[in-house]
Amino acid sequence: MSAEIISGTQMRAAILEELAREVNMMREKHGKVPGLVTILVGENPASVSYVSLKVKTAVSLGFHEVQDNQPESITEEALLDLIDQYNQDPDIHGILVQLPLPRHISEERVIHAIDPEKDVDGFHPVNLGRMVLGDRRCCFLPCTPAGIQEMIVRSGTPTSGAEVVVVGRSNIVGKPIAIMMGQKGEGADSTVTMVHTRTRDLAAHCRRADILIVAAGVPGLVKPDWIKPGATVIDVGVNRVGTAASGKAILSGDVDFEAASKVAGKITPVPGGVGPMTIAMLMKNTVKAAWMQLE
Ligand code: GUN
Repeated sequence: MSAEIISGTQMRAAILEELAREVNMMREKHGKVPGLVTILVGENPASVSYVSLKVKTAVSLGFHEVQDNQPESITEEALLDLIDQYNQDPDIHGILVQLPLPRHISEERVIHAIDPEKDVDGFHPVNLGRMVLGDRRCCFLPCTPAGIQEMIVRSGTPTSGAEVVVVGRSNIVGKPIAIMMGQKGEGADSTVTMVHTRTRDLAAHCRRADILIVAAGVPGLVKPDWIKPGATVIDVGVNRVGTAASGKAILSGDVDFEAASKVAGKITPVPGGVGPMTIAMLMKNTVKAAWMQLE
């Protein structure tokens, strides 16, 4: 048996089409479009490539896009001042500061400086707090967990009462997706187990999962015999395992994809799985921010 592949690339295309229609409606109704600033500090190659994809997508949707690249040497104070300027700018509805930041800058202080109403990454504690309280109306969900949940729903995987096992407990992925899947409501209502590096028998927990979400950052961690036959497997890992002759990075997930496909019911590939969905959710949050600030 071969698993159905859940294509993030295809789902992203459908979501971007929906958003493009919304942007047109906003332009007609308010004479405005969503405004997004992407702040990139330094020249980390992975960050440069992620930001350029975000910018390209924002431009393709007709957003007002400001690309603000700052040198690695920028002081924390200067970066905080810059964020404050964008907080005050009525044409900017969403602020994204690409992480990681250089070591002399506190990521925590930077995230806290962003106006929660413009925090389209969903990293501000106010938005995370609203998410924990289940207040969906007025909060921005963090983009990768939101993308994962959207993929689960759009793939037709039932979630109510399902056993969900999340491998990883990061603030950006593991912790929020575990909370979101356990919330009351559509696309959730699951029974969630979060496992991590200190968990005693990782494989035994994974084998119970109807939905297995892996965000450990360890290439090939999940073996085929860790997967319950027919389970939905969401691989969040993006591991650079080599460089192709063209100079492009060779990416691999946290799941042994070829072998896992023979056991799982549905599975996401790397690349082309969760990654494209993260960008789609960032765009969705920016459109939401714009509506909230216009109305
Ligand atoms: N670095 C890696 N992933 C992300 C993300 O989703 N948002 C930001 N701002 N930085 C990142």
